[in-house]
Amino acid sequence: MREIHILADIDEISHVVAKKWAQLSEHAINDHGGFHIALSGGSTPRRLYEYLASSDFSDQLNWPKTHIYFGDERSVAPDDEESNFKMATDAMLAHVAIPATQVYRMQAEADDIQQSVVQYSELLNHKLPANKQGLPCFDLVLLGMGDDGHTASLFPGTTILEEKEKPVAAVYVEKLKAWRMSITYPMINSACNVAIMVAGENKKEVIAQVLGEMGSAYPVQRVQPDGNLDWYIDKAAAPCL
Ligand code: 6PG
Repeated sequence: MREIHILADIDEISHVVAKKWAQLSEHAINDHGGFHIALSGGSTPRRLYEYLASSDFSDQLNWPKTHIYFGDERSVAPDDEESNFKMATDAMLAHVAIPATQVYRMQAEADDIQQSVVQYSELLNHKLPANKQGLPCFDLVLLGMGDDGHTASLFPGTTILEEKEKPVAAVYVEKLKAWRMSITYPMINSACNVAIMVAGENKKEVIAQVLGEMGSAYPVQRVQPDGNLDWYIDKAAAPCL
């Protein structure tokens, strides 16, 4: 099921998504003993992560039964300002009672990124609960959307868009002149729940086309999970909707 939520601003998006996280976490822990979530990178989710770790909300979550994965990562060291792992650690993970052994970093900076891909794929197959088809699936995948319609590191015109088997892949992004590691459409679309957060006026033209037109011109349009898909869009990005 797909739902579109138009909210006032990034603060309201963060509060609404935090409540969704708490609901899905409670259900997952009751159902299979743990909550397995893939974090989005970029700047949009930072406010959410800070709120989840805040004294207003942190106690509502069962951190010892939470397992944190990453939807994608840049090919930088974990202490680099560009690292999605660093952003999530500074905003949230360093401030909550989650065991470090339950935070699974993508080692996209490794010289042999393909080896890191194999290791992360094996991790997902080993750690994640299975869905009805017996495939490993996330309880929740958090995603963002770039102003070119990319999501995770699924960029327009890149080879990773055609990956139909592997759960994780490495991709060289020409426009960034950089390698990335990312979960793939099979891994995203097998998720029980996907939440896409979009904020800012610079996204308004693309989001209007992404949600207004059928087709798959933009990578984010091929996010079509078997489970639930929720869009959380602020008013600044939504005037054309
Ligand atoms: C990344 C993200 C990426 C992000 C979009 C939106 O590593 O950059 O995973 O997919 O979600 O680029 O980024 P902003 O939230 O910064 O607009």
